[in-house]
Amino acid sequence: MSKENPLSALIDKGIKELQIPERPISLYEPVRYTLNLGGKRLRPQLVLMGAGLCGASPEKAVPAALAVELLHNFSLIHDDIMDGADSRRGKPSVHTKWDSNTAILSGDVMFTLAYEQLEYYTIENGFSPKTLSQLFKVFNKAVKTVCEGQALDMEFETSLSVTLDEYIHMISCKTAALLESSLVMGGIVADTNDETIQKLATIGMEAGIAFQIQDDLLDAIGDPDKFGKRKGGDIYEGKKTFLSILALERAEKEQKMKLSSILQKSDCTETEVEYVIELFEQLGVISDAQEAIKNRYITSLHALDYFSESPFKSALTNLLDKLTAREY
Ligand code: IPE
Ligand code: IPE
Ligand code: MG
Ligand code: MG
Ligand code: MG
Repeated sequence: MSKENPLSALIDKGIKELQIPERPISLYEPVRYTLNLGGKRLRPQLVLMGAGLCGASPEKAVPAALAVELLHNFSLIHDDIMDGADSRRGKPSVHTKWDSNTAILSGDVMFTLAYEQLEYYTIENGFSPKTLSQLFKVFNKAVKTVCEGQALDMEFETSLSVTLDEYIHMISCKTAALLESSLVMGGIVADTNDETIQKLATIGMEAGIAFQIQDDLLDAIGDPDKFGKRKGGDIYEGKKTFLSILALERAEKEQKMKLSSILQKSDCTETEVEYVIELFEQLGVISDAQEAIKNRYITSLHALDYFSESPFKSALTNLLDKLTAREY
């Protein structure tokens, strides 16, 4: 979905020009592998669009965009270890292709590569010290928030009483915070005012919440060949998702007992996973997820009304529209 956008050429070029060392091979090969698998490159596009919306040339925001994409890829490498996920973007995840120690260290170095990108925002390159300190502040906060979200995501696996509000808080941390920060970092590069930053934050937060509910939905009912991850992965892992939380709330006594026992098991079968997906359908949680996704994207698009017409506004409107119907 990103490839038709001219901004993605800037991102692809930036990624290609990253100077990833050759050796040690076990450290840098998984970094190259991960970056070459691509992905949608959603977050770096948001950085460039955020800059463009606020009147800066997107070129100036490329290092910030790369920082965010590197951080995202690092988080995926570690997330796949934490989630015991064997595939990512239709290929073996790093800890599966290599091993967990390799994945931990390659993730760590990628995290550093992300910070290195922010070194671009110096006085010599025409940026004020305020720009650099604001970028660091937003980026650090995003990293911390993603870690908090990931911790809650894991804590929730063993809790049976997670509410929808707690879930929304968890995904606003693990996923939406980074989409929010992407747009905001674009705004900071453009040296925009606080009110505008707030609007960018709302667009990113609402789209990010929609994006994660959609990720939960695709995990259960998406086409794994398109989605690139194992069908029902969240059920195998006993994750609290938009779907499982609502289903636990709505299920009758027997169904609820069966559902919680499957979610708590460490070795559930394909038949059990199919049962859970069928139950999601029966209890209407699939259509509720679709409704929630639609409403969050609408709120995001409404916040975008604040900005005056520009090619960047059209590009972001387009991107949000396309995301609404994403299959991967
Ligand atoms: C996956 O993010 C992790 C989530 C926050 C759901 P993406 O769906 O953006 O992953 P890629 O980068 O396109 O593979
Ligand atoms: C992703 O949540 C959040 C982060 C990577 C920080 P998920 O665990 O649902 O993401 P996928 O489904 O593995 O991409
Ligand atoms: Mg996870
Ligand atoms: Mg995961
Ligand atoms: Mg997921």
